Amino acid sequence: MREAGRVVAEVLQILAAAVRPGLPTLELDRLAEREIRRRGARPVFKGYQARPGQPGYPASVCVSVNDEVVHGIPGPRRLREGDLVSLDLGAEVGGLMGDAALSVFVGAPPDAEAERLWRVTREALDAGIRAVRVGGHIGDIGAAVQRVVEGAGFSVVREFVGHGIGRALHEDPQVPNYGLPGRGPRIRPGMALAIEPMVNAGDWPVEVLEDGWTAVTRDGSLSCHFEHTVFVGEDGVEVLTALPES
Ligand code: MF3
Ligand code: CO
Repeated sequence: MREAGRVVAEVLQILAAAVRPGLPTLELDRLAEREIRRRGARPVFKGYQARPGQPGYPASVCVSVNDEVVHGIPGPRRLREGDLVSLDLGAEVGGLMGDAALSVFVGAPPDAEAERLWRVTREALDAGIRAVRVGGHIGDIGAAVQRVVEGAGFSVVREFVGHGIGRALHEDPQVPNYGLPGRGPRIRPGMALAIEPMVNAGDWPVEVLEDGWTAVTRDGSLSCHFEHTVFVGEDGVEVLTALPES
């Protein structure tokens, strides 16, 4: 999982650096798949939830722009100055998964509120990670995230949650970005969790577009997303999708 996490972290850095005005989001997907595979890893989102007659998710990276919350599908759409872009990436090495997301502006943030949303979402992820401890509860994480987000006047998406991760991308337990301290499953050593606050500048309800994937805010407000995969050790929490130097 360290290796998978490292691949995700490295490729996300490359994608973030490639973001610029005029870039079709499909180019980010090409770059993501190439950089994942040349590290000996496999993109895990591509073909996710494939069933007979259903190809599943069609890309290696989710690119969710502005009011898109998560699971945006890369395509011919070109990025524009001031867009807020979430890049969400999963990789598998030797049957084990890593999953992380970050958000970046194309060029400068369009206004101070957008920049504040971005900063608060990062802080919410940090708070969620800091709430992880052996013997604590999953609800501690959501409570910490929610406190930061709602304290800043933003809202936490309810329809999507973080998750356990390991041999599968999504494992138990679910890790909501809201909740109460001391509630939910016990946090035990050996667990790996993907913590992923999705934060809306407006209200929290989302809807899924006709493509069956792209989740957007119902009120059209801006949304931001950060995610890390963390491992719960006997005596400490390790962020598997952070670069050592960051
Ligand atoms: N980080 C997201 C999640 O855990 C990304 C999933 S994209 C999908 O749900 F294509 F795999 F659905
Ligand atoms: Co995830």
